[in-house]
Amino acid sequence: MRPRLAWRPGGVVLRAASFFMVGTILLTIGDAVRAVPCPEGCTRFGTCNEELGRCDCPKHRTGPACATELGPEALAARCEALGYKGGGPGGMDRCLSPANHCLGACSGAGECVAGFCKCAEGKFGADCSLSLGPDGRPRLLADRGYTPRARGPRVYVYELPPEMTTWRNSVTLDRPTARLFLERLTATGTRVAEGAGADWWLLPLGLRALDGERLLEAVRYVREHHPWWNQTQGHRHMVFALGDTGRRESEKGGRTRNMTFVSHWGLWRDRPRSGWKASHRNDTDIVLPVFLPPPYLKRLGLAASRHHPRFQDRALPELRQRSGPLFWFSGRICGDGLPPLTDAPTPRCRTSKSSGYSGGTRRKVYLSHWNRTGFLMTQSDPLYGQHMLTSRYCFGPMGGGHGQRQVQAALAGCVPVLISDGVLEPFEPALDWGAFGVRLPGGERDIPRLHEVLAGIGPEEYALKLSRLRCAAQHMAFSTLLGAAMGEGGRYDAVETLLELLRSKAQHPGVPWEGLRAVDGQLDAFLDCRSGEGAEGEEAEREAEEGEGAEADGGGAGAAGDARAEGASGRREGAAGARGWGPRRRAQLPVAPPRRGHVRGRPLDLAACPRPWP
Ligand SMILES: *[C@@H]1O[C@H](CO)[C@@H](O)[C@H](O)[C@H]1NC(C)=O
Ligand SMILES: *[C@@H]1O[C@H](CO)[C@@H](O)[C@H](O)[C@H]1NC(C)=O
Ligand SMILES: *[C@@H]1O[C@H](CO)[C@@H](O)[C@H](O)[C@H]1NC(C)=O
Ligand SMILES: *[C@@H]1O[C@H](CO)[C@@H](O)[C@H](O)[C@H]1NC(C)=O
Repeated sequence: MRPRLAWRPGGVVLRAASFFMVGTILLTIGDAVRAVPCPEGCTRFGTCNEELGRCDCPKHRTGPACATELGPEALAARCEALGYKGGGPGGMDRCLSPANHCLGACSGAGECVAGFCKCAEGKFGADCSLSLGPDGRPRLLADRGYTPRARGPRVYVYELPPEMTTWRNSVTLDRPTARLFLERLTATGTRVAEGAGADWWLLPLGLRALDGERLLEAVRYVREHHPWWNQTQGHRHMVFALGDTGRRESEKGGRTRNMTFVSHWGLWRDRPRSGWKASHRNDTDIVLPVFLPPPYLKRLGLAASRHHPRFQDRALPELRQRSGPLFWFSGRICGDGLPPLTDAPTPRCRTSKSSGYSGGTRRKVYLSHWNRTGFLMTQSDPLYGQHMLTSRYCFGPMGGGHGQRQVQAALAGCVPVLISDGVLEPFEPALDWGAFGVRLPGGERDIPRLHEVLAGIGPEEYALKLSRLRCAAQHMAFSTLLGAAMGEGGRYDAVETLLELLRSKAQHPGVPWEGLRAVDGQLDAFLDCRSGEGAEGEEAEREAEEGEGAEADGGGAGAAGDARAEGASGRREGAAGARGWGPRRRAQLPVAPPRRGHVRGRPLDLAACPRPWP
């Protein structure tokens, strides 16, 4: 028994907390629980992190107990420093806008103040999900019967000061994946309240371009306030870095060497002609598929997927057969963004500006194959969706950094062609894109004989690729967030795949990513979509029949941003596929994805999410 001081608005309350100081956990409990109270009156305007004794204020307040409201100038300066730009003086309109999304809707235990959760007394955490138990140790959603799921992984989320996390602009956040993942951690039961005994430690930053200082600050903070960074030397600590060129642009210095960066960019060696530096580190990092919300896919004409079991019955007749091009691509071809010239003497780009765009591969493929029978490469295709759905092979190149067409193709059911030397695709090397997609044996050198490679793929091999693609596509889809568009159950979606990789890596820390499948049968089965439990979407299909679609609406901002980054000509491209599906139904998951909630900030109760698989 040790007394613990906790401050309450009315004054000091002496609270007796019992500690069962059992051998091995003694140290960490000792660290986690500090009898440092929050300044008096903290919870009047702010949130008291009871574990750290830190008083967090909403972004328009300051002072030890948030008692002072910032004046207009100070507020404008703070907002600007946080990245609020445009729209009103210093972007203040947006800075204090209620449209800023609160994590997990403050777990129903707090008030959302422009993205910051002002938690009810005794609750704390960026989403108010934490409280201290009678033993003085943190609990997650204690009054809601939260228990971590058996399969794991156990992910601990650091509670960083709000200026690093929830104060930041979520209105214009164009890649919301990191935030969504945070909410999903709680919903799946993979989040744990205590860092001791966790498999992974997450720094909940959504890094995007040149955020290196912010990352270092966060690392400094966790090193100082918690024991786990020093204990692990930064291993099994993770962060999302979702900028176009991944880790490299979000990291500064070597301090974060052992961290796992989750990014979209798997470039593991330099490509000087493109001005790219190696970004992905094979031993630590993970490539995550780009988040493509349904409204965006719909705009591209990709509301339908060939993987859906009812595609053949429901799709428009012109979509049913693979009667489109043999090889198809639409988007920027020349780095300068201008359409290539095909008049005499040879086809060429008009200028050599940005000739390293897409690693030069779009240009090279075009120059070798522009007029080949069955090949369609165009700058802008009014039948974008239709062609992606009806072509046999779709080119999935890089952009000005990572690309997204390989993911679009996988989702739509077109066999992706990967020509990007030195780049790992999403979830590689655990997943083998060569098994369900096409890679040239000699990589980019073989571009001139692409047609021969494709011609060499017989009907049986093609059918095999397609059947594997149906599973791989599930790993690329964020179905547990956005709903199921392929009649899948959500078991193998991108979030679950990431979690499964984290689980496996934590259990086999010495095994490189490419070796995990061989030593971990559970992972092997998972990656082949044959784990059993709650996997197939039978229920989903039945519900789709009944017409109660989830109508997932992810907001679209995320992928639109990606498309901009890549210079995709997607926006105006083809509505043909969009009307192609016919019935406006989307198979519903056993886990109903929150309607709009995640992206748009509608209330949602993560604690109440069913967990259809263990
Ligand atoms: C971790 O190590 C650094 C450097 O030695 C030290 O400054 C810091 O206090 C340590 N953190 C903890 C929680 O002990
Ligand atoms: C990374 O981990 C290794 C041990 O695996 C350690 O020697 C090294 O100091 C760590 N690097 C950093 C920057 O913490
Ligand atoms: C990274 O992984 C790729 C694919 O597995 C491999 O070809 C490459 O040699 C590795 N690069 C380094 C630097 O280890
Ligand atoms: C295709 O274009 C090349 C020049 O790039 C030309 O030599 C060839 O004759 C053309 N083939 C056809 C079938 O038009």
